[in-house]
Amino acid sequence: AEPARKAMPSALTFDRHAKCSTTKARASTLHLPHGSVPLPIFMPVATQASLKGLTYDQLRDTGCMLCLNNTYHLGLKPGQAVLDSVGGAHKLQGWDRNLLTDSGGFQMVSLLKLATVTEEGVRFLSPHDGSPMLLTPEHSISLQNSIGSDIIMQLDDVIATTSPDHARIKEAMERSVRWLDRCIEEHKYPEKQNLFCIIQGGLDLELRKQCCEEMVARDTPGIAIGGLSGGEAKEEFCKVVDTCTGLLPENKPRYVMGVGYPEDIVVAVALGADMFDCVWPTRTARFGDAIVSSGTINLRRKHFAQDFRPVEEGCTCTCCRPVDQGGLGLTRAYMHHITAKETVGAHLLTIHNVHFMLTMMGNIRQAIIEDKYPEYLRKFFSNIYQGDK
Ligand code: GUN
Ligand code: ZN
Repeated sequence: AEPARKAMPSALTFDRHAKCSTTKARASTLHLPHGSVPLPIFMPVATQASLKGLTYDQLRDTGCMLCLNNTYHLGLKPGQAVLDSVGGAHKLQGWDRNLLTDSGGFQMVSLLKLATVTEEGVRFLSPHDGSPMLLTPEHSISLQNSIGSDIIMQLDDVIATTSPDHARIKEAMERSVRWLDRCIEEHKYPEKQNLFCIIQGGLDLELRKQCCEEMVARDTPGIAIGGLSGGEAKEEFCKVVDTCTGLLPENKPRYVMGVGYPEDIVVAVALGADMFDCVWPTRTARFGDAIVSSGTINLRRKHFAQDFRPVEEGCTCTCCRPVDQGGLGLTRAYMHHITAKETVGAHLLTIHNVHFMLTMMGNIRQAIIEDKYPEYLRKFFSNIYQGDK
């Protein structure tokens, strides 16, 4: 039975500007408490209230309007008392644009093999002293209220995407709905922070449908599709995103969690998704990988020692932009020279990769507005398949 629900206040407005005439791609703007965000968007991940390798002025320079922090990590350190004293995570890290926090359950299940889930919450051993701890939906929301992030995520019951245990997948989906109700109940500042639900249900389209129906009825300001960053087959990924977006309201932002490979993003956009996050673009930079339009190149490989082109021809990031245009004008040869040993090599590549992702999202948005998204897709994939590396 459907309980009577009071309308949830929201701290966002969502303006749709254009819809592709042949795919489900949308271009829109999400107005949040710390500024407006053009959608579709990629959100870089600053797990510990720091984007590894970048200062926040450098992150601002990439045009980033919204990045991620993690409730689990910030709850452990600096902890809720410090967050309350300083007045939240924006002040703590000196970031005056928007923040989104993931609720913590996913991180525990993926980072701590010892986490166990019960109806109460997620039990785990403290990585500091091994003492038993419990993250409940209430505690996650209370921490996110102290963090003060502009978008907060419900605690969800996360299991491996490719789990063969159907009963467990169903239980996790149903529990995630019950936990959403507990999160809504606990949330103290719905007029300042936007709570997003997370659709679960594994790769079972029937479970996904049921979950969409239940979650949409709770009327949260935005909606995430979870359980999809676990190495499932591309075809399954597409079916789940397509099924969910087909059942979600048009007038709310849709966030596919943990997805960050360019080829997955461009496809999910065509299926009607608006928001993405992933550690991959920043993490891979620290291994010497540059994201370019032909794919990914590893600048540690020997042949780059004699390659005096920029990381990507025409890229306007600080690293690639010519000196006479105010950039550093660095070459692949230089990046090769510093990338293995010098920390600044990782910083520069992080700047390039974040810039690449955000520029790509801007180009996607422009193509949708001009109703040329199918052409964009053709060009994107032909670059990847034919690009010289
Ligand atoms: N990050 C990637 N996938 C997920 C998910 O399913 N749930 C949460 N909370 N975070 C995620
Ligand atoms: Zn660049």
